[in-house]
Amino acid sequence: MTGRSFFSGGKVRKTDGVKVYKDPEELARAAAELFADTVSGAVSTRGYASVVLSGGSTPERLFNKLSGPEWKGRVDWQKVHLFWGDERCVPPESTESNFGLAQRTLLSKLEIPLENVHRIRGELPPERAASEYEEEIERFFKDRGAGGPAFDLVFLGLGTDGHTLSVFPGTEGEVQTGLVRPVYVDKPGSPRVTMTPALVNRARRVVFLVSGGSKAGVLAEVVSGGGEYPAGLINPAEGRLIWMADEEAARGL
Ligand code: 6PG
Repeated sequence: MTGRSFFSGGKVRKTDGVKVYKDPEELARAAAELFADTVSGAVSTRGYASVVLSGGSTPERLFNKLSGPEWKGRVDWQKVHLFWGDERCVPPESTESNFGLAQRTLLSKLEIPLENVHRIRGELPPERAASEYEEEIERFFKDRGAGGPAFDLVFLGLGTDGHTLSVFPGTEGEVQTGLVRPVYVDKPGSPRVTMTPALVNRARRVVFLVSGGSKAGVLAEVVSGGGEYPAGLINPAEGRLIWMADEEAARGL
């Protein structure tokens, strides 16, 4: 396989369990390597790969890498199924839509079957969007004979308030049960629909991508176990939790 393996030493320094990369560009390259490695392994083992994409702005560099010349041809997109960890309750073409960002920077540049793209229907009422998505996830894994929903790879972002997915401080009680829930918060694109921490914690590999100096304080707090942050609810039962950050975000470590 061409390209530097994600797991090689390379320019990575491990601090408090966080893999630190020189800048957002190196972080995105490493995340693309991890995506390609994980998908390749999953397809070899199970014949398909299930990947959950994160929202917000951080993943845009990753999406541009994956749809670019270095990685696009390394992924068997016919066998990759894409999901979203959360969505704003806006139409898919909205600039606030997490699916919309992926559509513009990744999906529109790939030959990926429509049936492999499992978006949260943000244009629906939140409760209906959440229940339909939960049913779609359960059906997806049941149809493949899996013992239950367990994604191969979940990408997550970290908010400056320690939120992840659309689990914000104070909303933890709304995501205690089930796989997908509506969340009502005073945030952009609210209400939201989010996977629950319990669903994410069933994944084989969960990766936080954290970039920028504004995240330095919260990243240090969360990885050290300090404070009660929603991101602290992410603790895979059997899977691997990986923190990846650029130097700016890691300067508090
Ligand atoms: C969303 C995301 C959210 C995001 C963090 C980080 O819908 O906004 O799912 O959890 O990952 O807020 O956002 P940035 O990458 O923009 O800093």
